[in-house]
Amino acid sequence: MIKKCIFPAAGYGTRFLPATKSIPKEMLPVVNKPLIHYGIEEANKAGIKEFGFVTGRSKRAIEDYLDYAPEVEQSIKGSKSKEKLLEDTTKMIEECTFTYVRQKEMKGLGHAILTAEPLVGNNPFAVVLADDLCEGNVLSQMVKLYNKFKCSIVAIEEVPKEETSKYGVIAGKEIENGVFMINNMVEKPEPKNAPSNLAIIGRYILTPDIFNILRDTKAGKGGEIQITDALLEQAKNGMVIGYKFKGKRFDCGSVDGFIEATNHFYNKIKKNNNSEK
Ligand code: G1P
Repeated sequence: MIKKCIFPAAGYGTRFLPATKSIPKEMLPVVNKPLIHYGIEEANKAGIKEFGFVTGRSKRAIEDYLDYAPEVEQSIKGSKSKEKLLEDTTKMIEECTFTYVRQKEMKGLGHAILTAEPLVGNNPFAVVLADDLCEGNVLSQMVKLYNKFKCSIVAIEEVPKEETSKYGVIAGKEIENGVFMINNMVEKPEPKNAPSNLAIIGRYILTPDIFNILRDTKAGKGGEIQITDALLEQAKNGMVIGYKFKGKRFDCGSVDGFIEATNHFYNKIKKNNNSEK
């Protein structure tokens, strides 16, 4: 049973400067909801209600967002249309718990996940990278798979070979349709060194033995502690699965992906509003 979800959110979001000078990149809105909100909704649909955030300096906006806002609620009281805009968010805040830990130094995604250990304990858990915005309930698909295989799982998708240097890339044996037993993983390889074009996207389910592995993982690509390297170790000693999810991912860590997501979700909202009329 996966009950907890971790959001590593300590990065600087430098690709979105100057906006991210004072706003965490996870708070950038796609239409009217910040990225982090989409990630929480996806996890909620997978039955997860306990959230842990690995934050850093100038990330306080995340905590404020995931709390009641009595002044705002008071000021819109009586306006049905405005109350409706906040309704689902208030319910989400009511039903979930949010805890925070700070990553004091930026030493990579693996280090961020290790920093979350006190929030996770000895439980399997999900990890969501909020700038990969997914449609199609990807975490729900992964939780189902976890219940069957009880091992760490990474979501993967095919990318053009020339883009492998942006991702962790896996290789493995396809044991079921879209389910790969991983035997190799490389963080951001140049296309000529990539073991395949199956790229890891920002959804993971991890078993808690990953923490001990991470403690022993040396700095890898970019001088950072990489979750990809720790997962390869886990795969060698046991089993790690790569899952070709059904759905669509928007790379909101890039301006192009962010605009694509904005157009997509705007059109979706407009279509819903029209069909409600
Ligand atoms: C991280 C991981 C990488 C993964 C990617 C997915 O990289 O290190 O393996 O493919 O997320 O978005 P980042 O994009 O944080 O540099």
